[in-house]
Amino acid sequence: MPDWPVSLIRKGLRLTRDRPPIDALKTEGDLNLSGIRQAWSQRAIDAETRKLLDEDTKYFLHQSLSTPCLNVLSGCQGSYLTDQQGRKFLDFHGNNVHQIGFGNPTLVAAITKQLERLPFCTRRYTNEPAIQLANTLCSLAPGEANRVLFAPSGTAAIGMALKLARAVTGRFKTISLWDSFHGASLDAISIGGEAIFRRDAGPLLPGCEHAPPPDPAQCPFDCGHLCNLKCADYIDYMLRKEGDVAAVVAETVRSTPFIPPKDYWKRIRAACDRHGTLLILDEIPHCLGRTGTMFTCEQFDVAPDILVVGKGLGGGVFPLAAMIARGGLNVAPDLALGHYTHEKNPVACAAGLATIRYIQEHDLLKRARDLGQRFGERILQFQKNHPIVREFRGLGLLMGIVISAGNSSQEADQQLAEEIMYECLNRGLNFKLTLGNILTLTPPLTLTDREMDDALEVLESVMAEAESRMDAPFAGAPAKSGGSPHPDSED
Ligand SMILES: Cc1ncc(COP(=O)(O)O)c(C=O)c1O
Repeated sequence: MPDWPVSLIRKGLRLTRDRPPIDALKTEGDLNLSGIRQAWSQRAIDAETRKLLDEDTKYFLHQSLSTPCLNVLSGCQGSYLTDQQGRKFLDFHGNNVHQIGFGNPTLVAAITKQLERLPFCTRRYTNEPAIQLANTLCSLAPGEANRVLFAPSGTAAIGMALKLARAVTGRFKTISLWDSFHGASLDAISIGGEAIFRRDAGPLLPGCEHAPPPDPAQCPFDCGHLCNLKCADYIDYMLRKEGDVAAVVAETVRSTPFIPPKDYWKRIRAACDRHGTLLILDEIPHCLGRTGTMFTCEQFDVAPDILVVGKGLGGGVFPLAAMIARGGLNVAPDLALGHYTHEKNPVACAAGLATIRYIQEHDLLKRARDLGQRFGERILQFQKNHPIVREFRGLGLLMGIVISAGNSSQEADQQLAEEIMYECLNRGLNFKLTLGNILTLTPPLTLTDREMDDALEVLESVMAEAESRMDAPFAGAPAKSGGSPHPDSED
């Protein structure tokens, strides 16, 4: 098929549809469409890197959250990224895969050993690392979790969970939350709640109802910034009205982050039980300790029927996710729920086992809690004299600083946050923005005290400077070549 009909169809869509403004698409991550980003890129990227970026731009399909890319990496180790120009960046982003740091030697040793022994597991066979990892996850997960299926991505694991919920309940409807993210496939965006993934996608899965998330900043029940759990009660109401919902699917804690009140999940768990609905919690980005416990739902005293984990489960090396289900859900032996080629990949599973062992042996759950608390205290102290920080949100090492330009314009908040992000990058600190104006900070749990202090120093100085020149135009580019404050720091 020649190219032109496709591009014409696409152009036709563009012409006939109302497109939401770019700001409305600022949800999960930062877009590659902004002027500030272009300005940064023009000043900070040298000719050699530009050549690679141009090649990348030439060969990959363009999409708003990746290609065209910002920069080229040549290495990552511990808490740091190294770019093609030799600059180092403390990585407070890491796509949430770097719980134990990048290239952790213990992990590399476990992977290498397994690679030399059994690099793949042909279907019909199983292997020791896969069995051990399934066993470990079941023993760690709360409630009666004792069945597992692995998948090569979080999205695929969510898809399996939806299929299992249908098989178990004989129902197909779901309730999930607006603004949520569960992956980019068609089934995942049907339950997801972000316009950037859903718009122009055509008909999504039927029966995917959405409810407002527990975000007091945008509460349709006017809770006045103090969640009164009306949003949880509304889910109960929806379950009652629909009467035949298979599952409530949600992230235990949204990555933006917003953290629901203590009783939120208990209330929804009880509602699910009343209405014969399964509770599926998506902890793909936060499992294995980011929030200070192995699984975040432990902090809300609830056990879901299905817990979905991923990201760092593969040690930051392998794409590996898992659906962990309660034993009573093992009711579909005649169906194929997953059937992924790498379903029981022994090397990926060895990486998962090594990651969990490392977290346990180095007490990284406590480390996440302690570092998160220290970081939060410091930002709250800073906030006392700096109204640029509207709010700090944190649970362990899942942290967010909400930026305010002080004039209640969302656009101004977002521009200021973006300026801060690129200036931090100039000074060797990498993180992402969510919802346009939240500096979202997710460092490795192996972060040293010194690295934490370095990051705080960069953040505080950049925020203070941004505040002092609130009305001045942003230069949009680094004054000098970036570099980490203490690239080789070790504790
Ligand atoms: C909450 C959540 N669910 C699902 C996914 C999808 O996981 P994957 O990218 O491994 O498919 C992500 C990825 O960012 C996520 O954050």
